[in-house]
Amino acid sequence: MSDYDFDVIVIGAGPGGYVAAIRAAQLGLKTACVESRATLGGTCLNVGCIPSKAMLHASELYDEAASGKLAKLGIKAQVELDLDTMHGQRRDAVKGLTGGIEFLFKKNKVEWLKGHAAFIGKDTIDVAGKSYRARNIVVATGSNVTPLPGVEIDEKVVVSSTGALELAKVPGHLVVIGGGVIGLELGSVWKRLGAKVTVVEFLDQLLPGMDGEVRKEAAKIFKKQGIELKLSTKVTGVTVKGDKASVTVEPAAGGAAETLEADAVLVSIGRRPNTDGLALERAGLTVNKRGQIEVDHDLATAVPGIWAIGDVVPGPMLAHKAEDEGIAVAENIAGLTGIVNHDVIPGVVYTMPEIAGVGLTEEEAKERGEVKVGKFPMLANSRAKTNHEPDGFVKVIADAKTDRVLGVHIIASVAGTMIAQAAQAMEFGATSEDIAYTCHAHPTHSEAIKEAAMAVTGKPIHI
Ligand code: FAD
Ligand code: NAI
Repeated sequence: MSDYDFDVIVIGAGPGGYVAAIRAAQLGLKTACVESRATLGGTCLNVGCIPSKAMLHASELYDEAASGKLAKLGIKAQVELDLDTMHGQRRDAVKGLTGGIEFLFKKNKVEWLKGHAAFIGKDTIDVAGKSYRARNIVVATGSNVTPLPGVEIDEKVVVSSTGALELAKVPGHLVVIGGGVIGLELGSVWKRLGAKVTVVEFLDQLLPGMDGEVRKEAAKIFKKQGIELKLSTKVTGVTVKGDKASVTVEPAAGGAAETLEADAVLVSIGRRPNTDGLALERAGLTVNKRGQIEVDHDLATAVPGIWAIGDVVPGPMLAHKAEDEGIAVAENIAGLTGIVNHDVIPGVVYTMPEIAGVGLTEEEAKERGEVKVGKFPMLANSRAKTNHEPDGFVKVIADAKTDRVLGVHIIASVAGTMIAQAAQAMEFGATSEDIAYTCHAHPTHSEAIKEAAMAVTGKPIHI
């Protein structure tokens, strides 16, 4: 009889870990998943993707009614914000989905080991005072908020994304530190619900890592929406008095300081990997300078039998990247060939309009060689125009010699949905011509991708 308790133990039940555990069980491996949270689903389902999208969706509908956008369509409504109910539907969404993972664990016979896991040795962990031995251990412990030195997060006045999802009333003035994905999504929620929102960003543009033209256009759109942007600005201190905060800022390059009075302050300057309390050293594992566990192409760590996936390893901190790595790691453990194409991972910012990209930015593509770029404005797309969604554009970047698509970047109301076809095209090695000659249904926002692809080597029809 085997002296292993399990073939696979996964540590962490976020989108990386729970997917890895289910796939491993589906492949016939005896599998357990350790989770210290009271519910499964990790950051994404509990305090990330899902609750933020619940608030983004509800606040968008409120804004459409309250700002008079619906009235312009001939829909007159008396609008009143019931924030408690809005929070209630957010909690319901989280409860339904986290409960769904518990159901899937039972269905697939994945055992949930409740508690915090720490390594005892390279194939043994401790959970709540009991030790478990496994042939394979997958570290999928995710990430948490990066603190800002000298600024204490109390989750009441100075909040992380978790507190910002749950504010009991609309703040008069919300100061957001960090103009990245979280700052813009949650800043948008509270702006729509009536807050004044100021985003303080250290760099000279929002959304680092995204295509340069997209970043500039996004800044214009957010300003037009009334979000105040303080770019190239650093926060030098936050003082809390009662239920108010004073945020002192100054130009990043140095200069006169300014104080912003705020009812809430959101700290969203990035996330860092979770490895505290894991006792990695007992397994012979180390972390890199950024606190991440390094893995090879197969998601194997330097220690045989230990694997790592998701936010705790290098790469974009995204749920779908973690999920795909979860499937791949389980397949590799089972002796199959699990692959994640890290060159084709879409990223979406779920503001209105949405901002999405896949592959290389124009700047990155130009560094590697000659490129051709095709662009098409959403203003000239019949569906976007009919829906009164004129902002944004589609940009297709292709290799000048081979015409192979290297990157696609979109600002559009449904950019997050549109980007899927670009990712699929790139996964299949498509050229811009392949996209241009693919029949797209009319009238859809996706036709803008076809027209941007037509613009790479020739001319679009509608502009
Ligand atoms: P996590 O989801 O962080 O899960 C790790 C789990 O491991 C946690 O539940 C933790 O409790 C548990 N754990 C950690 N250490 C231990 C231990 N020692 N023992 C036991 N359990 C442990 N991504 C998107 O793609 N789309 C989005 O729209 C999106 N929105 C987001 C919104 C917000 C506000 C935030 C904060 C993040 C968002 N993300 C989004 C990012 C996404 O949530 C993460 O990329 C994703 O959750 C990473 O998955 P993971 O499995 O690696 O880790
Ligand atoms: P981020 O990395 O997206 O943005 C952080 C921003 O803060 C950057 O613009 C950075 O320049 C700025 N910054 C850093 N230090 C600063 C300082 N001292 N003062 C002012 N600005 C400063 O990180 P964010 O928004 O916290 O999100 C964390 C992660 O969560 C992201 O990596 C993202 O992948 C994931 N996420 C994904 C979402 C999605 O896919 N829609 C939604 C929310 C989060």
